[in-house]
Amino acid sequence: MCGIVGYVGDHQPDARPLEVVLEGLRRLEYRGYDSAGVALVTGAGGLATAKKAGKLANLVAELDARPLPGATAGIGHTRWATHGGPTDVNAHPHVAGGVALIHNGIVENFAVLKEELLADGAELLSETDTEVVAHLLQRAYAEVKDLGEAMRLVVRRLHGTFTLLAVHEDHPDTVVGARHDSPLVVGLGDGANYLGSDVAAFIAETRRALELAQDQVVVITPRSVTVTDFDGNPAEGREYTIDWDAAAAEKGGFRSFMEKEIADQPQAVQDTLLGRTDTHGRLVLDDLKIDESVLRAADKIIVIACGTAAYSGHVAKYAIEHWCRIPVEVELAHEFRYRDPILTERTLVVAISQSGETMDTLMAVRHAREQGAKVLAICNTHGSTIPRESDAVLYTHAGPEVAVASTKAFLAQITAAYLLGLYLAQLRGNKFADEIAEILDDLRAMPEKIQEVLDRSGRVREIARWMADTSSVLFLGRHVGFPVALEGALKLKEIAYIHAEGFAAGELKHGPIALIEPGQPVFVIVPSPRGRDSLHSKVVSNIQEIRARGARTLVIAEDGDEAVKAYADEVFFVPQSPTLLAPLLSVVPLQIFACELATARGLDVDQPRNLAKSVTVE
Ligand code: AGP
Repeated sequence: MCGIVGYVGDHQPDARPLEVVLEGLRRLEYRGYDSAGVALVTGAGGLATAKKAGKLANLVAELDARPLPGATAGIGHTRWATHGGPTDVNAHPHVAGGVALIHNGIVENFAVLKEELLADGAELLSETDTEVVAHLLQRAYAEVKDLGEAMRLVVRRLHGTFTLLAVHEDHPDTVVGARHDSPLVVGLGDGANYLGSDVAAFIAETRRALELAQDQVVVITPRSVTVTDFDGNPAEGREYTIDWDAAAAEKGGFRSFMEKEIADQPQAVQDTLLGRTDTHGRLVLDDLKIDESVLRAADKIIVIACGTAAYSGHVAKYAIEHWCRIPVEVELAHEFRYRDPILTERTLVVAISQSGETMDTLMAVRHAREQGAKVLAICNTHGSTIPRESDAVLYTHAGPEVAVASTKAFLAQITAAYLLGLYLAQLRGNKFADEIAEILDDLRAMPEKIQEVLDRSGRVREIARWMADTSSVLFLGRHVGFPVALEGALKLKEIAYIHAEGFAAGELKHGPIALIEPGQPVFVIVPSPRGRDSLHSKVVSNIQEIRARGARTLVIAEDGDEAVKAYADEVFFVPQSPTLLAPLLSVVPLQIFACELATARGLDVDQPRNLAKSVTVE
């Protein structure tokens, strides 16, 4: 989820390429702000670069202090760190010989390629997968002396997701790009052409765009755009006119960042899964860096987190206990250290945090470590405080989450927790390799199923708009559906300011059912009817109990579950999936409902009142 910009223009070397690239990066900075960098082709044989950790302002200050020469072409990058911390060295662009390269995505097989380069005498300076690609490109160019062909040779060797842009010092009139499972779009100008990870990169320059398809390489010069597939066969992009305003362009055309981030969830889950297995299919959580003996010896896991992150921990509890037979407690971080928890050196504390800066969670991490427990962070923000103060980290790869209400980070946290549970089961021998492989296959099928839920969102949006004046909504779920109910209620509370409460469905008759009166909207997350120990019939009974008292039942159920229709005023079907993985699907209609209802109310979905994206006070 990095910001990527490219420019080439028909003029003598001047300040224009840098101006265009910096303006594009400014509009893309929300996509990543761990570092920023530019590379300019300053004329035949001239390559000038600058890059700095931190926000774009740091790069601008660097350029003010040490100006770059005029140029005819340039590329720029704002980074959301995946491989390697947010440092100057790891910042893009990466240079190898006369090549400068920037990258958005994750090269899954970079370790193998890196070994090959090191054996061939390459000197790599950074921890990144991108630098490996830069050296491969430089070597390929040395063979074929054509940047477009060199790019095709390289991309055919890469596994994972990538958008790549490259320039070469010998070609002041050329920028080359390639994309696989990661966005890239061409901006069409007059005597100049542009490339970007989305149209915000060049919307200030042109509204004519050319959409590139999967597995294409594009070569732009000031007066030409040449598209091929990875084998060099000519291809066509789809030309269109951008009708968004600049602000909408920064949200990818969505009305809010939250809406965009809900739509980004298949990619967030897919990217979090990428690069986690070796060539034999065994799980390798290489960024974990915790001694395997610690994980084998663990006799209790305590998850500490706040808000949505805590609810991902509740989902994790069911999965990890089932797969690993280790007791898992889930604690609100702000309660954890005041209850004098029982911690030993065999307690594994898992701190879940999107921002990595939540003070309640950080203080709980410090307490746990003072008490001798090992702490493993699940975090979305490289280099943030919580991973830095933990013994180990498992990063999610959801990309920057701008909206205060967490959505894609929630799914990525759940995914990372599943990976941790399977890794523990693998290490401790609770599961055979083929059992783990089967669950991993089910997990890899989830991004497509999440996309299917997104594609079906019309009805839930319609219901949300129709219910815009609602004053109270209840959410019921059982087993892994219970934390989903809690999360659905939290979304509605925090962005629509509606009283909403999530309950364990079985708890209703112990008091909360008194809240049910005619017309009371109640979402019910219904588990799959498949499987001998399904809780389906119990939850259907709960639906009957509330319908008998006049509730308006809005049911989330899996495809083929016809039985629920008799008891539901509305049914939102999601694709079938294994019970433990179902939260990745069942929460999505609830996210969309809250977002659409708040939008219908005219509220600021991305910056709700009273809230902050990261709560850095206790
Ligand atoms: C979720 O929508 C909220 N913004 C909030 O509950 C958030 O999940 C919580 O503050 C934890 O934040 P963190 O994941 O950055 O630690």
